[in-house]
Amino acid sequence: MDYKKNIDKVLYDRDILAARVVEVGRQIRADYAGKDLVAVTVLKGAFVFAADLIRAIDLPMAVDFAEIISYGEGAEIAEEVVLTKDVAVNVKGRDVLVVEDIIDTGLTTSFLVDHLRIREPRSIHICALLYKPAMQRVEVPLRYVCFEVGDVFAVGYGLDYAGQYRNLPDIVTLKEIPPEE
Ligand code: XMP
Ligand code: MG
Repeated sequence: MDYKKNIDKVLYDRDILAARVVEVGRQIRADYAGKDLVAVTVLKGAFVFAADLIRAIDLPMAVDFAEIISYGEGAEIAEEVVLTKDVAVNVKGRDVLVVEDIIDTGLTTSFLVDHLRIREPRSIHICALLYKPAMQRVEVPLRYVCFEVGDVFAVGYGLDYAGQYRNLPDIVTLKEIPPEE
């Protein structure tokens, strides 16, 4: 079975992604010059985006990773959010930039931001590849957004459907999506 047969539309192709990521990286570089930047990438969805983004930020920085799994998808509020991997670097007094794949309701990211704030970073902001403003339910310190999207289910460039499609170089929608999405 060709997994690509389930692709519906290309939302953002690899060239558009590359250009926008460079643009956002430059913005981050300008804002974080002279700061003590720690980029915290949220696994798994943001790993492809983060790999490109950090190389577009020409500044000294530390990188680390956190993994969060949320249950309760689509329009429902995430019922359970579990931190399955914590950051290892000390973020106290440092300038944390959380690198996220997508802000939907904001609940997953909000959970991580609250968790990191306990360690007293000097600042904490979010850089998201995709943002669904119409879906947001909680405020998060979102500072950088590559693309705003409507209520679509997007995969590719790190984003998955049932664990698949993360390796697609473009961000696409699928013909068959989970019924709750
Ligand atoms: P919340 O609602 O907590 O959820 O902001 C964010 C998480 O939900 C997943 N999500 C998506 N994953 N395509 C995906 O591949 C999408 O369009 C999408 N919308 C939400 C994702 O895991 C994200 O971290
Ligand atoms: Mg995610």
